Amino acid sequence: MNPPSPHAVRGEILHFVADPAHDARALEHFADGLLIVRDGRVAECGPADALLPRLPADAAVTDYRGKLILPGFVDTHVHYPQTDIIASHGEQLLEWLETYTFPAERRFADPTHAAEVAGFFCDELLKNGTTTAVAFATVHASSVDALFAAALERRMRLITGKVLMDRNCPDFLRDSAESGYADSKALIERWHGRDRLLYAVTPRFAPTSTPDQMALAGRLFAEHPGVFLQSHVAENRAEVAWAAALYPEAASYLGIYDHFGQLGMRAVFAHCIWLDDADRRRMAETGAAMSFCPTSNLFLGSGLFDLQRARALGVRVGLGTDVGAGTSFSMLQTLNEAYKVLQLGGQSLSAASAFHLATLGGAHSLYLDDRIGNFAPGKEADFVVLDPRATPLLARRSGACATLEERLFVLMMLGDDRAVAATHVLGEAAWQRSASAWN
Ligand code: GUN
Ligand code: ZN
Repeated sequence: MNPPSPHAVRGEILHFVADPAHDARALEHFADGLLIVRDGRVAECGPADALLPRLPADAAVTDYRGKLILPGFVDTHVHYPQTDIIASHGEQLLEWLETYTFPAERRFADPTHAAEVAGFFCDELLKNGTTTAVAFATVHASSVDALFAAALERRMRLITGKVLMDRNCPDFLRDSAESGYADSKALIERWHGRDRLLYAVTPRFAPTSTPDQMALAGRLFAEHPGVFLQSHVAENRAEVAWAAALYPEAASYLGIYDHFGQLGMRAVFAHCIWLDDADRRRMAETGAAMSFCPTSNLFLGSGLFDLQRARALGVRVGLGTDVGAGTSFSMLQTLNEAYKVLQLGGQSLSAASAFHLATLGGAHSLYLDDRIGNFAPGKEADFVVLDPRATPLLARRSGACATLEERLFVLMMLGDDRAVAATHVLGEAAWQRSASAWN
């Protein structure tokens, strides 16, 4: 049998081959580039004039000239059941959970509701150029089935898991240490490694799990190599004090997770604001990742993430929208707020570092950089097509830019889902803005 015919996209192509913080040549840019896809994977990426003559005559070429083609965005922390409570007014973390989150999550006991929200959520990710996400579901095992099914249908890379929560929460959202363990194990067997789906053991955060449940979560993580673990840590000062009161023997909040065997490669902790350097060193040493969630941290008034310190100590860091405490599904808008959070901390985020964080950096934080994150041959061909002229203001401001760095900065400050012209998953268009909305 002949190999499947390739197809290609042509436009301005940009991706990272390393971290721009350490390597001046990390950003690869082709003003008129060609990305050749075969069988859902990157076959070749380079200048159009060099690659076009080598393309078989029957290969289709989609013309995205005038637009920027980047690897699909990687959202390392988001809650699909909180889609409907995005932008809920007036509380900080613990009150926000009680007032808005728990009632919204209760509705996921109904599989029909879960399936409807899961479909909307996945479409919203694609509309925003996000092709990989690490997402919380709810305590209901069927909520995980619903999200995996929706992602599978769209062939997205999706990591999710059943929330483990056996204390300090309403009865209607409470599991037990044993049922949480058994349900998670069954879900891992059902879904982990199917197509592009991966499972994450999901203790919500230490305050809502008993020590027994935390121990079983650590056990699940250890018993299933390749499975992820996701949780929250050190987001809000009242939360930190509460965790300390519930686990008086722990040296720090992060130390609770450490004690129960939850730090390691593929462990992803959202927020990581109120940590000290000993905690950061421990994360670096164990290979655990931080998810920086700036829109959420500003919205809930949680605090300012210290990216410089995390980097200096060698911790893996990705970017998360944290919807529904986060206020946008757009990774561009999330970079906008990341820039501002870092400004408030006296730090600066270059556009190159920002886009690296949203693509290869996120993939690296998840140990998925061998499969996604850039256009190296063999990688899964997920990409986003950004339109620097998507709105009159963007067009006007982009037109005045002299350098690529400036154009990228303008896109992340002014861009949102309107700037996403198309999103491709495994080479195929999974989202396309209607022609009338293009200019
Ligand atoms: N900590 C525990 N649960 C949550 C949640 O749902 N959202 C956020 N932002 N923080 C949490
Ligand atoms: Zn969260």
